[in-house]
Amino acid sequence: MTNQIKFTVALGADHGGFKLKDALAEWLRKAGHEVRDFGTHSTDSVDYPDLAHVVCNSVLSGESRFGVLVCGTGLGMSYAANRHAGIRCAMVNETTSARLARQHNDANMLSLGGRMIGEEAAFDILATFLATEFEGGRHQRRIAKIEPGV
Ligand code: RB5
Repeated sequence: MTNQIKFTVALGADHGGFKLKDALAEWLRKAGHEVRDFGTHSTDSVDYPDLAHVVCNSVLSGESRFGVLVCGTGLGMSYAANRHAGIRCAMVNETTSARLARQHNDANMLSLGGRMIGEEAAFDILATFLATEFEGGRHQRRIAKIEPGV
């Protein structure tokens, strides 16, 4: 199932991901979404967990519907994000996983590797992620077992 809803999307990247993050910000704005860009804004070295935590807090507070993180590989960002109760951050390199992360896992964040994938692949992944709805049903039961009580 797909939709064309416009969302508020929080973005965060380290020095390995800021270029792709900036491209995603522009793509999102052109597509009509609201962007909260938490940085970083240069190649100066920063620590990816600092950015991941800020973006997670934006999603958890309800300020943003989704969060997108970009580091060199997408890995470190996803580890940091998934330490937050209520965050389900999918580290994704292609569109099938992006679709299933929404349909089956109700992912609320994406993590991408700025040194792993090109801009066009990242745009396709994000477009798929935002256009796909959670299927609920048996998947809701399974998600509840990831974080009982959340
Ligand atoms: C930074 O050099 C790099 O370690 C980071 O961007 C990310 O790939 C970590 O998982």
